[in-house]
Amino acid sequence: TARRHQVKWLCVCILSRDQLRSVKARMRAGLEAGLKSNSHSPVKMLPSYVFRTPDGTECGKYLALDLGGTNFRVLLVKIRSGLRRSVRLYNKLYPIPLEIMQGTGEELFDHIVHCISDFLDYVGMKKARLPLGFTFSFPCLQAAINVVSTGLNWTKGFKATDCEGNDVVDMLREAIKRRNEFDVDIVAIVNDTVGTMMSCAYEDPQCEIGLIAGTGSNVCYMEELRNIEKNGLGEMQRMCINTEWGGLGEDGCLDDIITEYDNAVDRESINHGRQRFEKLTSGLYLGEVVRQVLLDLTRRGLLFKGRVTEALKTPGIFETKYLSQIESDRLALLQVRSILQHLGLDSTCDDSIIVKEVCGAVSRRAAQLCGAGMAAVVDKIRENRGLDQLNITVGVDGTLYKLHPHFSTVLQETVVALAPQCYVTYLLSEEGSGRGAALITAVARRDQVEM
Ligand code: BG6
Ligand code: GLC
Repeated sequence: TARRHQVKWLCVCILSRDQLRSVKARMRAGLEAGLKSNSHSPVKMLPSYVFRTPDGTECGKYLALDLGGTNFRVLLVKIRSGLRRSVRLYNKLYPIPLEIMQGTGEELFDHIVHCISDFLDYVGMKKARLPLGFTFSFPCLQAAINVVSTGLNWTKGFKATDCEGNDVVDMLREAIKRRNEFDVDIVAIVNDTVGTMMSCAYEDPQCEIGLIAGTGSNVCYMEELRNIEKNGLGEMQRMCINTEWGGLGEDGCLDDIITEYDNAVDRESINHGRQRFEKLTSGLYLGEVVRQVLLDLTRRGLLFKGRVTEALKTPGIFETKYLSQIESDRLALLQVRSILQHLGLDSTCDDSIIVKEVCGAVSRRAAQLCGAGMAAVVDKIRENRGLDQLNITVGVDGTLYKLHPHFSTVLQETVVALAPQCYVTYLLSEEGSGRGAALITAVARRDQVEM
């Protein structure tokens, strides 16, 4: 019976081709609803005010900030155009302590400005007034390339107070004034998906989609302006839309595939009821889903000799890097056991087989769901352009995609199966979206001058 129960659980988590097709359709409906009204739709479809990808003529020196992934980074980016076109980076990582992620907005922005100040000392550029691109990887409605109008919603592990409803660009500007040590010109605010797309498009002009599969999960793509209900955008043909697809399911549309374990993860999260698709698909939550399953199996006496230890009750013990290691095909079961041991979980050989199976089922489901979402996006672009076949490149970043042994393959296979009329290439973003933020800043500055 023990085995039967495990198998039963695994079946709850395995999605059939029909279910995946249906998720693709729900994502498509979410994209369309968001384009019509981004304030009421779970999939927000936020305008980025990025109208084109780079063409190699960008140049200059830029400061970039990258907030919202595993690390906060400050970067100096030097872009050269012409025959010797190149992008060179100097960057430094700064940890953001949990008490700052979840403290007040003023503390968060003071900390960011402290890091910028340290970085400017490090590169010896405190006196220069550099143009700045701010990769800010959270949903916020922009009124222009460097203006946030309303409605910032924190996602992932962030919850600084007094920010929601404020313009984060203003908050950054004020924190810079408070410190009064240097000045910058904030030219662009950018989602990480958009930065990643731009960074990859610099190498491959066919790149018109950005995907992040990391702490969070999200996609952006080039949408036709005629489909976007916005006025006054002049002659432009397309605009990059930050889908914020992680919100799919907030209206209950994924309830049939959401399990009791997912609900437990949602209940214990700091944004209960929100980002339901993200909670099925991204690094911050997959380990928690695994932990909930293991807790249940242990409580039923099927695992760890039925002993629910403190380690197993600790939220966050299964970070993405451990899931990736446990699922690695090169790892012998003995090594899986030693990872579990390291996490404070004493296991038998049978235990480690079960843990590996659970990790595999949870991450496979995540990759398939992302694939179903991506199939909806590529087919929408294909239909937008009236094509029988679409060739397109997706720029990708994120620790889940990069570190996990099977995630990328399963995602790609799912897209092939669900969007057979699209030929999709995946290009890894090498230096993060800070590089893309600098490119966007370069494009935005030139467009400002030309307008
Ligand atoms: C980085 C990008 O490389 O990837 C960030 O520069 C992005 O902007 C991050 O947020 C996503 O990955 P993760 O796994 O760190 O959330
Ligand atoms: C979350 C954020 C989104 C970001 C994604 C990946 O979903 O809301 O803006 O792109 O994480 O970092």
